[in-house]
Amino acid sequence: SEGREKIKRAPVISVMGHVDHGKTSLLDYIRRTKVASGESGGITQHIGAYHVETDHGMVSFLDTPGHAAFTAMRARGAQCTDIVILVVAADDGVMPQTKEAVDHARSAGVPIVVAINKMDKEEADPDRIKNELAGMDVIPEDWGGDTQFVPVSAHTGQGIDELLEAVLLQAEILELEASPDAPAKGVVVESSLERGRGSVATVLVQNGTLRQGDMVVAGSFFGKVRAMTDEAGKQVKEAGPSIPVEILGLNGTPDAGDEFFAVADEKKAKELAEFRQTR
Ligand code: GTP
Ligand code: NA
Ligand code: MG
Repeated sequence: SEGREKIKRAPVISVMGHVDHGKTSLLDYIRRTKVASGESGGITQHIGAYHVETDHGMVSFLDTPGHAAFTAMRARGAQCTDIVILVVAADDGVMPQTKEAVDHARSAGVPIVVAINKMDKEEADPDRIKNELAGMDVIPEDWGGDTQFVPVSAHTGQGIDELLEAVLLQAEILELEASPDAPAKGVVVESSLERGRGSVATVLVQNGTLRQGDMVVAGSFFGKVRAMTDEAGKQVKEAGPSIPVEILGLNGTPDAGDEFFAVADEKKAKELAEFRQTR
C-alpha cells in the first residue's frame, strides 16, 4: 500500500513439460549445483520449493507443480508463477503435455522460456523443437519471435547457466516488485503432518516479510510460526518476497494453492480461519 517502499523481487518459476522430458532432472541439477549449502551439512532435506543465487540475481523454483497442481493452484486463484520453463526433450519433440503446458501458461498470462533438454543425446534435434513450437505460435527470438529457447542437458549441465540468465532476462521485462515492509502474505505450496513436528507447510512469501513468531492464517487453519527453515534445512528467522520456507506451528494442513497471511493476533487468526472453514 501507499508509502511502502517497493523493491525488485526474484522471479518464481514453474517447470512444466511432457512426461520424462526431464523436469525433475533439471530441477535436481540446479538444486545440487546452485543452492548454497547451509551450515547444517548441505541439502539433506527436500522441500517443495527452493531459491538459488546466480551471478545475475536470485531465482525461486516451485518444485511440485505438475500440470495438475498448477491447475489446482490456478483454480484457487493463486497466481504464484511468474515464468514457466517449458522443458522439451530434444530427442522426442513436442508432445501432448507440451501443448497442454503452453495452453496453461498462455491462459495464465505467464511468459515461457523453452529449455530444449537432453542435448547430450546423439538424436538431439533442437531445430525440430523450434519448428514444432513455432507451429504453435511459440516463436524463437532468433526467428523474430519473443520466446527464448535454450539448449540444455540436465545430465551434463550444458546450458543451465544460460537458462538461468534467460529466466532473469525475462524477469527484467516483467519488472517484478514487492514491499518487504508489508505484513507477510503468500501461497501454500504443500503441507503435511509429520511425526514429532506436527503440521509442516511449505509456503511461498509473495509480499511482505514472514517472521518467526508471526501469527498466520493459511487456508482454514492458523497458528503462530514456531520455526522456519529454508530448503537446506537451515533455521531462518525471516523470509522476504519470493522466498519459499517451511513453517511449523499451524493447527492443520492447508491445501496447495491456499492463501496465507500474517495477522495481528490469535483472536483475529481464529476468526478468519473459522470463517474460511464455513465456506
Ligand atoms: P515426469 O515427472 O515423470 O513427467 O518426468 P520428468 O519430466 O521429471 O523427467 P525426469 O527428470 O524424471 O527424466 C526422465 C528420464 O530422462 C530419466 O531417465 C532421466 O535420467 C532422463 N534425462 C533427463 N534429463 C536428461 C538429459 O539432459 N540427458 C539425458 N540423456 N537424459 C536425461
Ligand atoms: Na519421469
Ligand atoms: Mg518428474
